[in-house]
Amino acid sequence: MQRPTTQKARASKPPAKVRVKKAKPAPTSDLIVRLDDEPWVQLADNSTLKNWTKNEEIRYNQGNRQAEKYDMFRKVFDFLKENEIKGDYHEYGCHRCRTFRMALIEARRHNIADMKFWAFDSFEGLPNPTTETSNSKWIAGALATSERQFLDLVKAQGVYPERVNTVKGFYDKSLTKTLQQKIKAKENKIALVTVDCDLYESAVPVFKFIEPLLQEGSVIYMDDLFVGTKGSPKRGVARAFLEFQKRSKWSFIRHMDVSWWGRTYIAVKGGLPDGVL
Ligand SMILES: C[S@@+](CC[C@H](N)C(=O)[O-])C[C@H]1O[C@@H](n2cnc3c(N)ncnc32)[C@H](O)[C@@H]1O
Repeated sequence: MQRPTTQKARASKPPAKVRVKKAKPAPTSDLIVRLDDEPWVQLADNSTLKNWTKNEEIRYNQGNRQAEKYDMFRKVFDFLKENEIKGDYHEYGCHRCRTFRMALIEARRHNIADMKFWAFDSFEGLPNPTTETSNSKWIAGALATSERQFLDLVKAQGVYPERVNTVKGFYDKSLTKTLQQKIKAKENKIALVTVDCDLYESAVPVFKFIEPLLQEGSVIYMDDLFVGTKGSPKRGVARAFLEFQKRSKWSFIRHMDVSWWGRTYIAVKGGLPDGVL
């Protein structure tokens, strides 16, 4: 287990050496194009799919997934701005800095000048799973991006790097009461939190940690509600979220569905009024 440390992006030395590849636009055949007649949308023909490889599948899926996540970030920042919900961005599960960069960019686009960005991760990948998952790739050390690589990606993007803080360590050790009290006393409340740490046992300490840092209107983006569990709420982060709701002083109103895997919720003080929303 790694001792938890906090670090600011501007303080890391020596200067970034990372070369961030400029990705090409995806082929237009990946996009959904409407037609004026049957079958109403353009469908790929066999020549496009003839040499369809595992890499093509990954590229296609990742493109679709990240596009939907980015769409959600655009909408959430609009929601925060319109509702005048001020505070910080927290991310639990940062890996390749994809969602984290989306948050930085949308904060900038919405001219949110006083937000800080907190990245909580082991920066060594997943811990050894202690509960059952249906994802055979989720093993100890999977999904590892070092703190240095993460901060290099932030710097290469160049948006608000001076406002980024990393908290390195596995959550059962790094999310201490002392750190929680320090953030509560000295920092903003949470405006938006991304929970993207895959495992039940990772999400449990996260919810405990964020409880006193929430405010009315805080948005929780749950990335893996239907991932690694065959969709069952009896396992994974869905289970951790349901258990958290039982003991939390907050209620959570369901807001946006994010494709087949995730959802956003809004924190509301006390109980919810009767009726279906
Ligand atoms: C799916 S990846 C996050 C993807 C990231 N949001 C992105 O967009 O690139 C999951 C991350 O959760 C982190 N993680 C999972 N469980 C953890 C734990 N118990 N303590 C610290 N980090 C953890 C892993 O190190 C990994 O970086």
